[in-house]
Amino acid sequence: MKTDHEQGRGVIERYREFLPISDSTPVVSLGEGDTPLVYSARLSARVGRGCKVFVKNEGVNPTGSFKDRGMTVAVSKALEGKARALICASTGNTSASAAAYAARAVIPCVVILPAGKIASGKLVQAFACGAKIVPIKGNFDDALRIVRELGERNDFAIVNSINPDRIAGQKTAAFEIVDALGDAPDFHLLPLGNAGNMTAYWTGYREYHARERSTKLPAMIGFQATGAAPIFHGKIIEEPETIASAIRIGNPASWKQARVAIDESSGAVDVVSDEEIVGAQMWLAQNEGVFVEPASAATIAGLFKCCDSKEAACSFQKIPEASRIVCTVTGHGLKDPDVIMRQMGDLKPVDANGREVLHAIGL
Ligand code: F0G
Repeated sequence: MKTDHEQGRGVIERYREFLPISDSTPVVSLGEGDTPLVYSARLSARVGRGCKVFVKNEGVNPTGSFKDRGMTVAVSKALEGKARALICASTGNTSASAAAYAARAVIPCVVILPAGKIASGKLVQAFACGAKIVPIKGNFDDALRIVRELGERNDFAIVNSINPDRIAGQKTAAFEIVDALGDAPDFHLLPLGNAGNMTAYWTGYREYHARERSTKLPAMIGFQATGAAPIFHGKIIEEPETIASAIRIGNPASWKQARVAIDESSGAVDVVSDEEIVGAQMWLAQNEGVFVEPASAATIAGLFKCCDSKEAACSFQKIPEASRIVCTVTGHGLKDPDVIMRQMGDLKPVDANGREVLHAIGL
């Protein structure tokens, strides 16, 4: 049971016993976690057979993505270890989160980004929070290679998900889901980029199960964009491309761990097209009022594929009755307004009178 004073305390205070935190760790928190697990009647109806679909809305974390769960732990541990600066590579959200937690901790932060490939909202977040931004002529995989190199020097603490403290923090999302549902779900769907989040969820579900907080483990189902699907194809993609810039990754750092999660859980990995992603993004906003960024919509596009397509790696057509499905949506839609602005086109002003307005809405 959640008590009032636990609200807004952040994931370290709520799940301290499961985290690598000691009394001497200086806790840096922005009140992350405790995100809504929203029941969706429409998605449940789409799956049918009495199944229940829940959307875990990670876009309402302090910087608008799930990264904050891991960042609170990674930055707290970096301070404990007396790091002089933080460094990360990012497709946008990690840098936004690192910049914010670095500001809170009063420690310098360097973010290495693929030039021209970061959604505007995320870039603005990193800048506003005072990070040193270094755009490179390369993609995310190049940026992460550079971060690994520079991390060899002792000046920097790497806060990418190759840092196990990030994974430890992110596993708290699985704890929250089990705490809310009273047990683990039967299926867990999420987008796959660098594959840290899949790794973290699987760690969290396994730990809770080992402590008998749940009676079962979910099948882990990951979705990649068609043009950036190394895990699906089983090979590095040299030039990944997708509208979902957050998951534009060709050589995921946690590839092996995600593969283990998928295999151990009898899960699956599948692909969704950019068109399906944007369609699902609009669907979720228009039918549930949950506005997510494109990478997050890959989960919902994936759910639709599981329902509709016989070719899907995971088919829900014969799903056991009354299964519970959790879909993690990872980041807020406001982070990437440009994708939607393109759909919107030009909105032409009309004359400032009621008659013109009625005419404009077709009445
Ligand atoms: N969704 C969003 C919104 C993301 O920002 C990311 C990753 C993912 C999904 C995929 O998660 O990498 O753990 O498999 N973003 C990283 C970043 C790579 O730099 O912000 P993953």
